Amino acid sequence: MNKNNLSFSTWISNNIKNINDNLEKILQNHQDAKLSVLQEAMKYSTLSDGKRIRALLVHASFLAAHGCLMEKDDVLLSIDKAAIAIELIHSYSLIHDDLPVMDNDCMRRGKPSNHIVFGEAIAILAGDSLQSLAFELITCIPISYEIRINLIKNLAESAGYLGMAGGQAIDLTNMGNNISYEELKNMHSMKTGAIIACSIKFGYILAGANQVVKCILDEFAYHLGIIFQIVDDILDVTSDDKQLGKTAGKDSKYNKPTYVSMFGVMKSRKMLEKLRDKAINIIKPLGLSNNRLLEMLDLIIYRNY
Ligand code: IPE
Ligand code: IPE
Ligand code: MG
Ligand code: MG
Ligand code: MG
Repeated sequence: MNKNNLSFSTWISNNIKNINDNLEKILQNHQDAKLSVLQEAMKYSTLSDGKRIRALLVHASFLAAHGCLMEKDDVLLSIDKAAIAIELIHSYSLIHDDLPVMDNDCMRRGKPSNHIVFGEAIAILAGDSLQSLAFELITCIPISYEIRINLIKNLAESAGYLGMAGGQAIDLTNMGNNISYEELKNMHSMKTGAIIACSIKFGYILAGANQVVKCILDEFAYHLGIIFQIVDDILDVTSDDKQLGKTAGKDSKYNKPTYVSMFGVMKSRKMLEKLRDKAINIIKPLGLSNNRLLEMLDLIIYRNY
């Protein structure tokens, strides 16, 4: 059976198993007895139950850009490595996001946060190390130097001061502030959207997409990133700790500007539906093979944690 004909749920579970196996392998390979606490901390957060949405997006984007999975083993190996590099960055961002000086959350992925178990210093270093490991991993992708540099450049920009880290800084310096809708959208597209957009870029770069396909997918990714954080904002008020695996109600507790604080839950949901229509329209010119990306869009919008 052609891999692309699998049901979405089978495609998801096959990929998640593969992503988890690869994450375990890469963290195992870096085992060193002298550094066992730091390595335990890296594994503790990364190997816990994440939805792996960013890694799945790398695969979905590769397919949407008409990348051929059967081509040769090196291609598959490259996507796998790129996908887990993104998950390492994401895992680092979550460890730091939970620190007392940031969102001060004691629970993540249904378990005590990294700093609760290992202490703040090790949690910071675990995040730092996961970030470095992500870049190291990309240098080993079996593909041309030019493409590797391109992946590294995109990840560096997306994780850095003009991307995720910059967005986090805006988030943390705006507690209790009235910001404009444009500022809110910009913050969401940086703190969350940048890494989502990078996942989509990784997929189409490895697929060797042309300029037209790249532009379509970039525009789709921009909307998907904002959609992702709107859902996160809504779930923070409509769900509970058990379902989310993290502390619910934290955004209002810390007076964070969110879609819900600005528009309320009902209007945020309506905006979400409008953005969904927009995202679907953007991607239409790519044709049927972008199914997985559309399925990912709905997985992101209609998720309950
Ligand atoms: C949570 O991301 C952090 C945000 C960017 C909103 P996810 O909801 O993807 O978290 P995991 O990886 O499944 O734990
Ligand atoms: C965080 O957004 C985005 C990151 C870069 C980690 P949130 O602070 O809303 O994420 P959660 O709700 O703690 O997962
Ligand atoms: Mg935060
Ligand atoms: Mg947080
Ligand atoms: Mg949140």
